[in-house]
Amino acid sequence: MNTIIYKIHNLDESFVPQIQQAAEVLKCGGLVAIPTETVYGLGANAMDEKAAAKIYAAKGRPSDNPLIVHIAKESQLQKIAKQIPGKARTLAQVFWPGPLTMIFWKQEEVPLGTTGGLETVGVRMPNHPVTLRLIEEADICIAAPSANLSGRPSPTRAEHVIEDMDGKIDMILDAGDTGIGLESTIVDMTVEPPMILRPGYITKEMLEEVIGQVRIDPAIHLKHPENIQPKAPGMKYRHYAPKAELTVMEGDIDSVVETICRFCRQEKANGKRVGILATEETKDKYLGDVVLSIGSRNNVDTIGKNLYAVLREFDRQKVDIIYSEAFIGEQYGQAIMNRLKKASGKPLFHCQRGTHTQS
Ligand code: TXA
Ligand code: MG
Repeated sequence: MNTIIYKIHNLDESFVPQIQQAAEVLKCGGLVAIPTETVYGLGANAMDEKAAAKIYAAKGRPSDNPLIVHIAKESQLQKIAKQIPGKARTLAQVFWPGPLTMIFWKQEEVPLGTTGGLETVGVRMPNHPVTLRLIEEADICIAAPSANLSGRPSPTRAEHVIEDMDGKIDMILDAGDTGIGLESTIVDMTVEPPMILRPGYITKEMLEEVIGQVRIDPAIHLKHPENIQPKAPGMKYRHYAPKAELTVMEGDIDSVVETICRFCRQEKANGKRVGILATEETKDKYLGDVVLSIGSRNNVDTIGKNLYAVLREFDRQKVDIIYSEAFIGEQYGQAIMNRLKKASGKPLFHCQRGTHTQS
């Protein structure tokens, strides 16, 4: 299949024909990669089971992993969700359009092929002019997971989507780098108090300020989560992962730098090509084959924005092994550490001066 790629970096009226063409593709059951403020999505008509099936095929995604449905106006919410609690309406008013997905009981019309067989549906209104315009133009709801091959880091640039999806989908709308870089916060509104199933840019604290108590799915914080089933099916898979083995090193920063340097020397002596995920403050202290700075340790927004691009860059530079510093795991930092741990697929390595232990 020939994948059409349109660059739409600043949406104005001159792009209407491209948006109309993308809307036609969706209405005919095709796949269009769409920009959002979090990561690129792989979109299809949410009400068309056959179109949803194409998403699973293109991504190589397990069929029990449900898709998020994207809407452009609140009136679309009633078409796909029922028993919408007042708290959800309040959250929608405050955070939509934005990086918040809410889980509701689904309406009959939403096919089980979109929801991975669940009676619930995840809904969000993305904050991106191109995709909002596309949804309005097509006048449908768009089911869209992140537009990566299953298991790989989510795409934050059109080039990442091209890497994974070229030749497999009908169209890519390239709107440049995404703003946030990490997937939306998911909150289950079918339970009381509401429960965070995936941490993201909108933190527990931000939600609680608006609707009071919110809980976090206990599976998110477990050191060995394989023993308990997370409520968002997607959170049980190793995910966001670069091809090389990734070890995340925690502890005071001097011990982390010292331990990474020692491991790096050992692995290089074994003939391995070593990648190091560093920060502006530490990057000059390392002698890895590929040292990439993710930004300043003190700026979580930059770290979130760069994380997936940096992980993909290690793949491109074909390193055998990666060491990463850990980051502060509070508030938005919790979402960043959640993705980094999933990318690693194993517990953090705890560094202490002179000694080191696996936590
Ligand atoms: O920021 C985002 O949310 C991006 C952009 C494209 O909108 N989308 C995204 O989709 O991250 P995806 O498919 O990569 O991740 C969706 C997550 C999965 O972990 C899935 O299991 C969970 O949402 N999910 C979706 N519907 C659900 C439901 N009804 N119940 C529980 N979890 C659900
Ligand atoms: Mg994903």
